Amino acid sequence: MTTTTQFLDVDDLTRTELLDTIDRAAELKAAGPDGQLTDKTLAMLFEKESTRTRISFETGMTQLGGHAIFLSPDDTQLGRGEPLSDTARTLSRYVDAIMVRVFDHADAVEMAEYASVPVINGLTDDAHPCQTLADLLTIREAFESFDVQAAWVGDGNNVARSFVIGCAMVGIDLTIATPAGYGVGEDVLDRAAEFDGTIEVTTDPSAAVAGADVVYTDVWVSMGQEDEREAKLQAFDGYQLNESLLDGQAVLHCLPAHRGEEITDNVLESDRALVWDQAENRLHAQNALLTTLIE
Ligand code: CP
Ligand code: NVA
Repeated sequence: MTTTTQFLDVDDLTRTELLDTIDRAAELKAAGPDGQLTDKTLAMLFEKESTRTRISFETGMTQLGGHAIFLSPDDTQLGRGEPLSDTARTLSRYVDAIMVRVFDHADAVEMAEYASVPVINGLTDDAHPCQTLADLLTIREAFESFDVQAAWVGDGNNVARSFVIGCAMVGIDLTIATPAGYGVGEDVLDRAAEFDGTIEVTTDPSAAVAGADVVYTDVWVSMGQEDEREAKLQAFDGYQLNESLLDGQAVLHCLPAHRGEEITDNVLESDRALVWDQAENRLHAQNALLTTLIE
């Protein structure tokens, strides 16, 4: 077993590495990618659907001069029961990095334990650190610094968990409003507490958005939670980003959005929504990450 560089959550980077990655992303966005990964290959294992993650990683590898291979479970022997540990060691003999989108975070951890090339988390049930890189880049572009008051309103899910840690690492003050029982988890709050940003927790969306510069939400029913749909729709009543909750704050959403649930069409289509820049920034942030990890 070889321990190797991994990006399973934001705090796998140091604070300095995170800030450097965001700087590098901004540089690549301004100047264009530079063919730095010529002849390098990224394997991408997807257990869940994706638009942004798949297309941005695949396009990014092309822009950087390399190549990406998309693999659904049915495309590999994983679908017929070959262990992750064997797959990780085999892939490591061919490719230069592995991106995984899996349900169980422990599976991403196992891939990283057995791989001898960098493993990047492209979303697990616990974390979405590539999204956080793009979120932080988008906030810094919009506000020209991280001296920002942010609010999270909605599910304390994978996207929220990584965002909380990312905010704390760069010094963004964040208030998280989730229904009772749907918080980000004490483990994440403990990890965030190691950094400078102040994290406050409430069950009151109005209190969270009051004074916020930017408000972030995500779907209420994440991939794999379809059976919990009715219970979650009930639990999140009152947590929608709509005109009566908001008062001119900028809005983030990792997408895909479920209009009429966690966000209204009006808000998503308004000038205050930064979501298309945020989606684009996945590409630039991941290009920065790839050039850092693969080198
Ligand atoms: N935000 C995000 O990860 O989108 P996809 O599920 O489309 O990749
Ligand atoms: N929380 C969502 C994010 C999708 C990018 C999900 O896990 O489905």
